[in-house]
Amino acid sequence: MMTFKGGKKKKSRLLFVCLGNICRSPAAEGIMATVVEKNGLQDVIEVDSAGTSGWHEGELPDERMRLHGERRGYVFDSPARKFRKSDFDDFDYILAMDRQNFTNIKAMATGQEQMDKIYMITEFTQQYPYYDHIPDPYYGGASGFELVLNLLEDACEGLLQTIKEVELRQYSHL
Ligand code: 4NP
Repeated sequence: MMTFKGGKKKKSRLLFVCLGNICRSPAAEGIMATVVEKNGLQDVIEVDSAGTSGWHEGELPDERMRLHGERRGYVFDSPARKFRKSDFDDFDYILAMDRQNFTNIKAMATGQEQMDKIYMITEFTQQYPYYDHIPDPYYGGASGFELVLNLLEDACEGLLQTIKEVELRQYSHL
């Protein structure tokens, strides 16, 4: 359990963003929720996901993504919603799946503080240094969905390490 001296707890709120919010970002949300729970950090880390488009608003994640996730023990069941400006206030880390998502979110940011919250998810991968984005699996086959899961499992572990380091450093003076 990550605890902070002085009994203070600051929540880290993470938002994963892709285009449709039915393949990559709900998978990232589900994987990260699992990683967070395994580490007993569900009281201090919150996760959510959104799409830069509203094309699939209200839909459950893509059947293929859910099936590939289930085979690894994940449940992806977060309904799709569109990314909104208030997400800049409601989240600390906004994690884009590809460069197009990244650019679209950046274009909606007002001010440096909001800009600084936006990351490419692949900044946190450790095992797959040759991928600088999570390839969109929507129009491809099964191997694309497996690749998404491999990359996201790696990125979520890396992201957790970073958050632990950042938050513990922030509170180490207390
Ligand atoms: P996602 O994948 O951005 O990972 O959710 C896609 C989902 C839907 C579409 C494209 C990508 N689409 O064209 O509807």
